[in-house]
Amino acid sequence: MTTPHTDSIPCCLIVDDEAPLRAVLRRILEQQGFTCRDAASGVEAVALLEEAPAALVLTDYHMPEMDGVALLHTIRERWPDTAVVMVTGVSDVDLAVQCLAAGAMDYVTKPFRVDEIRGRVGQALEKRQLLLENKAYREHLEARVQAQARAYEELFLASLQSLADALEVKDPYTWGHSVRVGQYAMAIARELGLDADRLAQLELGSRLHDIGKIGVREAVLNKEGALTHEEYHHIMEHPVIGWRILSPLLRDAPHALGVVRSHHERFDGRGAPDGLAGEQIPLEARIAAVADSFDAMTSGRPYRAGMAVDEAFAELERCAGSQFDPECVAAFSRALEARSFPLPDSRVRRPTVRPSRVA
Ligand SMILES: [Fe+2]
Repeated sequence: MTTPHTDSIPCCLIVDDEAPLRAVLRRILEQQGFTCRDAASGVEAVALLEEAPAALVLTDYHMPEMDGVALLHTIRERWPDTAVVMVTGVSDVDLAVQCLAAGAMDYVTKPFRVDEIRGRVGQALEKRQLLLENKAYREHLEARVQAQARAYEELFLASLQSLADALEVKDPYTWGHSVRVGQYAMAIARELGLDADRLAQLELGSRLHDIGKIGVREAVLNKEGALTHEEYHHIMEHPVIGWRILSPLLRDAPHALGVVRSHHERFDGRGAPDGLAGEQIPLEARIAAVADSFDAMTSGRPYRAGMAVDEAFAELERCAGSQFDPECVAAFSRALEARSFPLPDSRVRRPTVRPSRVA
């Protein structure tokens, strides 16, 4: 916990345009153990506070250039830990209320008694000390709450990732798929200049994009060879299943959810589940679609071997404008040229397949 700032020898600034009064106040406060500085105007007081802050400011109201209330406002704004006590000859209840409302600790009218000044100053400093302790405690609590929120978030994301990993573990052919899709998607997104928050959401969405396959029958998921019409429709339910699972959990990550729901949309509007076209499809989902298909093409499956990188890129380019957003494909090509992501093992050239098989 942060220790609140305390002053072993409280430093006081006396502000009054009458020199004899400053001298009287100075004597009283120095006898009480304060170290004192004094200023003849508000402007001079601000200059002294800029040199070194004070625990307490005793200020007159009527002064040239800057009056006591203006000085009070400046101190509240720039040195909020400084206690201000107004000391003035104006016995005006409205002014007193105005000063207290603006944050003055107290309001003393002239002429004052020595013991009255001592008592009021002591009370103002005690009140200031309590406020400082309260502020330090609040900051400490806020830091703890923030740390806990971060820990919960990390735990939550780790649980989601475990869920995605559990899905891939069942199928050795897709092991590491979501991690690779995340890497490829990030390479494309960096080329397209997405900001840090959208990059983070894209990575999360990519890692979780196929989580809805949890709701797909295993026999269909791992089937070797072509899918029947019914099986294809069943497996293509996974974007919506995933979106339903994650919607309550990812309310603050709409771009990640967009990837999960729309990564099988096609640029020409012939995809699923919503038949969105072009820029109707969330950008993150258009990016993930390219990354997902690239990994599907370059990875081996029970029913075929993986494709070489150059062949897979040729296929992406062939499908740019129909299945894929051409700008995302072009960005991926630039990322490939810059070698900004880890390439899959492409030593073996393999038979070409179309990316239409559900990735
Ligand atoms: Fe998918």
